[in-house]
Amino acid sequence: MLPLLHDLELSGARVLVRADLNVPVRDGVVGDDARIRAALPTLRELIERDATIVVCSHLGRPKGVVDETLRMTPVAERLAELLGVPVRYRPCDGPGDEAQAAFVHEAPAGSVTLLENTRFDPGETKNDPELAARLARYADAYVNDAFGAAHRAHASTEGVARLLPSCAGRLMERELEVLGRLVEAPSRPFLVILGGAKVSDKIGVIENLIGTVDELFIGGAMAYTFLEARGGSVGDSLVEDEKLEVARDLAARAEAAGTTLRLPIDSVCAREVREGTETAVHPSDAIPDGWMGLDAGPEAIAAWMAALPAARTVLWNGPLGVFEVPPFDRGTRAIAEAVAASDAVTVVGGGDSVAALNAMGLADRIDHVSTGGGASLEFLEGKVLPGVAALGTVRPAS
Ligand code: 3PG
Repeated sequence: MLPLLHDLELSGARVLVRADLNVPVRDGVVGDDARIRAALPTLRELIERDATIVVCSHLGRPKGVVDETLRMTPVAERLAELLGVPVRYRPCDGPGDEAQAAFVHEAPAGSVTLLENTRFDPGETKNDPELAARLARYADAYVNDAFGAAHRAHASTEGVARLLPSCAGRLMERELEVLGRLVEAPSRPFLVILGGAKVSDKIGVIENLIGTVDELFIGGAMAYTFLEARGGSVGDSLVEDEKLEVARDLAARAEAAGTTLRLPIDSVCAREVREGTETAVHPSDAIPDGWMGLDAGPEAIAAWMAALPAARTVLWNGPLGVFEVPPFDRGTRAIAEAVAASDAVTVVGGGDSVAALNAMGLADRIDHVSTGGGASLEFLEGKVLPGVAALGTVRPAS
């Protein structure tokens, strides 16, 4: 059983919390702060329990060196605003260096300290035992709330969990509960909408969900690999030639397992990906040469929207067209609205779909918006996440 926040005696303890505060930062200002907000319940609960909190996270991919643009300063400021308590933070060369250790050592009881970007230390992504040991010295217990980074076996997500009594935080708990239900026992009919450019990114998820899902809608550029595999003419649409066989195999397995695979009937096509370019709607399996499918067409959208009301569970991951370039954002927008309006249990994951929901102000109408991109995909593929597997391996002293 996964140990949870109430399973550990944390009152008055020093607690190291790994959160996923990897938010977009531009010109020193946090953009979408959804991940910081998602970390608040665990931190608030620990504050109520008078814990002395040391929070850590990565920000971006600095590759083991200090990158001035990726310091945690803006994150510390936003976290303090949202949490409503001061957050101690001092820029240094890494989360395990001497200056950092001294700063943590001085932390008053009941305070909240944010460590420097974990990825400034080259030991972080190597899961270096020495860095894990330094982090472990900061606390009596470890809470992993970083679902979005749980697929990484890093020092702050995995190594340190093997050195301290540990448990999952509230965000981690909820993500695993909601996504776990999708894989194990979803209310049916269970409808899944998968988009995105590449079949290769979603093969594992499709394989793992075949048989559990009643209807699987495949949109985005990856649909054209499936369409060509079926013998369709997709013009100049993006096709992964080396995945045609895989697409044929997945389609056959879906049919055998009772999962209906649905591809877009028609597509909005253009000769180039550019705003304002000439567009035309073609059947997705009869796209003329020189044209490429860049969004689901009106008939495809209508057919998918007609199927949604019967669903009891809906999972959406990945855009249905080139969402960043209008007018090829229409399919994604229509699906975002339909999923938000659905009475089913709705779960949305993946950076682009979540960005679309946020841009449209629809995120709060979804039952669960996953904070994990790669992590939620790996979980749905049925993989064990290293950051989860390591929790509870050290028994608390009784
Ligand atoms: C994410 O943004 O998906 C997580 O924070 C993990 O980041 P990473 O892909 O750089 O490990």
